Amino acid sequence: MHGFRRDERGAACFGETPLESLLAEAGVGTPAYLYDLDAIADEAHALIAAFGDAPHLIAYAVKACTAGSVVRALARLGVGADVVSGAELEVALGCGVPPEKIVMSGVAKSNDEVDRAIAAGICAIQLESVEEIARVAARAGAASRRARVSLRLNPGVEIDSHAHVATGHDEAKFGIAKDDVSEAWRQIDAAPSELHGVGLSTHVGSMLHDPPLYLESARAVCDAARARRAGRHTLEFVDFGGGFGIDYGKQPVRPPADFVRAALELLRAEGLGELRLIVEPGRALVGAHGVLLASVLQGKRAHGRRWAMIDAGMNDLIRPALYAAWHRVEPLERAPGGASWRVVGPVCESSDDFGEHPLGDSLPERVVLRDAGAYGFTMASEYNGRPLPAEVFVAAGRVARVSRSPGATAWTRRRLEA
Ligand code: LLP
Repeated sequence: MHGFRRDERGAACFGETPLESLLAEAGVGTPAYLYDLDAIADEAHALIAAFGDAPHLIAYAVKACTAGSVVRALARLGVGADVVSGAELEVALGCGVPPEKIVMSGVAKSNDEVDRAIAAGICAIQLESVEEIARVAARAGAASRRARVSLRLNPGVEIDSHAHVATGHDEAKFGIAKDDVSEAWRQIDAAPSELHGVGLSTHVGSMLHDPPLYLESARAVCDAARARRAGRHTLEFVDFGGGFGIDYGKQPVRPPADFVRAALELLRAEGLGELRLIVEPGRALVGAHGVLLASVLQGKRAHGRRWAMIDAGMNDLIRPALYAAWHRVEPLERAPGGASWRVVGPVCESSDDFGEHPLGDSLPERVVLRDAGAYGFTMASEYNGRPLPAEVFVAAGRVARVSRSPGATAWTRRRLEA
């Protein structure tokens, strides 16, 4: 059995192995991210199985967790990548993801990023504006290459998620408005030596709880796909994006496989069953299988409240401060329960606050912040002179790899040099 669980003593584990002993084996202190590579692989297997025989590509949204160990583990299972920068593209390629399994999104790709994507021959550059088309065509022309492109559609759909992670509505900067799609195709078709229009995509936002909203945006893509084919143009794929939610302990969500099965059903019903279906999950593959370990530095009682000050802060995990997101904070060595403590980090901001958690009548030495595998380390910063945390990758109950924190001394040196 893989993934986060409690053993009979109540100690937090990955599978059978206590996280505390993994930390000791890795030889790192706190704060540190730990990832269960086996649980991530299990997650990918379940998603792959949901596709059955249908032509598909799972393009893992690398931004969720860019660690080479994670991207390599997924690449070994045949998973591709959705990247949003030249640097993410290099990570995907460097981890062995074949170029034909990589899609690149982004509203403001630099010329260098476009050039690299064209040279690598990726599956598709996802175009996010009509205005971008001429620039990509010019870069392809200059390189004497034909760029594979798709149109990222803004379907005009509102999702029931935090405003910061909704991307498919009329006020969002992402994608091409439905009304502009035929002009976009016209421009692509006018540059046949430079551009090859291969697909249609969308990504409506993150933390979807169940399939209906996903299908609403997918339907907009299907409509556009049928219109394109009615003009006797071929399409290789439709890409319905990522956004499958995970359960942070507050609200259950449907498993990602349910989204995939519903999407395949829709494609068949729309008469598009032979097209390759691309999905771009980030959080759903890694979110539940990474944790952030922290030490309690200080307890305090004030204003009738118990405070627990820990050595991980909003610089290490910004989701609570940025999205009012909830991450369970629990004692590392015993099950949660008993008195509640307000858990806060060391950063000089009131939003450096992880909320009230049942840590017990006495404070534990260490705590675990759960479900931190996605958008945890990748959004970390060095604010307040706090170096990036270590990352520990676990496979078969052992430490497979450690990426050490650059440390406070390196941080100080760099700032002195600046
Ligand atoms: N595809 C595109 C084009 C995206 O922009 C994203 C995420 C994904 C796929 C993957 O979405 P996922 O399956 O992980 O929901 N930092 C926020 C999430 C921002 C998501 C940005 N785009 C958070 O911590 O909740």
